[in-house]
Amino acid sequence: MELAMNYEVFDTPQEAAKKLAAEVAQLIRSRAAEGKGVVFGLATGATPLPFYAELIRLHKEEGLSFANVTSFNLDEYTGLPHEHKESYWYFMHHNLFDHIDIKPENVNLPCGTLAPDEIPAHCAAYEAKIKACGGLDLQILGIGRTGHIGFNEPGSDDKTITRQVTLDDLTKTDAAPAFGGFDNVPKTAITMGVATIMGAKKVRLMAWGEKKASIVKKAIQGPVTADVAASFLQKHPDAVFFLDKPAASEL
Ligand code: GLP
Repeated sequence: MELAMNYEVFDTPQEAAKKLAAEVAQLIRSRAAEGKGVVFGLATGATPLPFYAELIRLHKEEGLSFANVTSFNLDEYTGLPHEHKESYWYFMHHNLFDHIDIKPENVNLPCGTLAPDEIPAHCAAYEAKIKACGGLDLQILGIGRTGHIGFNEPGSDDKTITRQVTLDDLTKTDAAPAFGGFDNVPKTAITMGVATIMGAKKVRLMAWGEKKASIVKKAIQGPVTADVAASFLQKHPDAVFFLDKPAASEL
């Protein structure tokens, strides 16, 4: 099988985000017209912000309803309560859920505040709930400079499912300013695995800026390897990278 990753290059993140949001809106509306729901996997980080802003605009200005949407977030830091500004629960509510009509009971994020001995069962239940909802119709992704999708750091192979992971030093370095220093960054997180993500019917990864150019090249044109979790997407039947020009500059 010839492996080739599909990617599209845009002048600006806003243009890319608009196109991706239109695809998502179309999926929501076509399912709603059939009286059905749709299941999205969602991501955090600075990257999806223009995409979430466009979804909010579509809701407020064009009447797009999220009433038939169920969401599962990719990951969550361990140890941060919901009200912590760096928790992904806070991020998602602040940047998307509080501004649209998604039903709170349809929102799912890994729980970051469990006792260590409760985490394995929680991860298994998260996987089971995704399956019980019919699987992920579309997974939204960013990419970390380690090549991580979710928090699947180097060494995460394509058999991995939702679990607790240790964060890579480069990931903690990138997160350090938001936490006021490297040592304040949580050491672990709960993340969907590579297999969980690969199980989505469609995968759409966004990456912007020169800082992402070398890892984007490895993910798209490098070998498929657990050293770069995003490289497994080369084997996905419907994965597309949405890039701006600087992120695509090494391709
Ligand atoms: C975090 C998240 C990832 C995200 C990545 C990139 O580590 N767990 O899901 O893709 O960072 O973040 P940013 O979009 O801010 O570059």
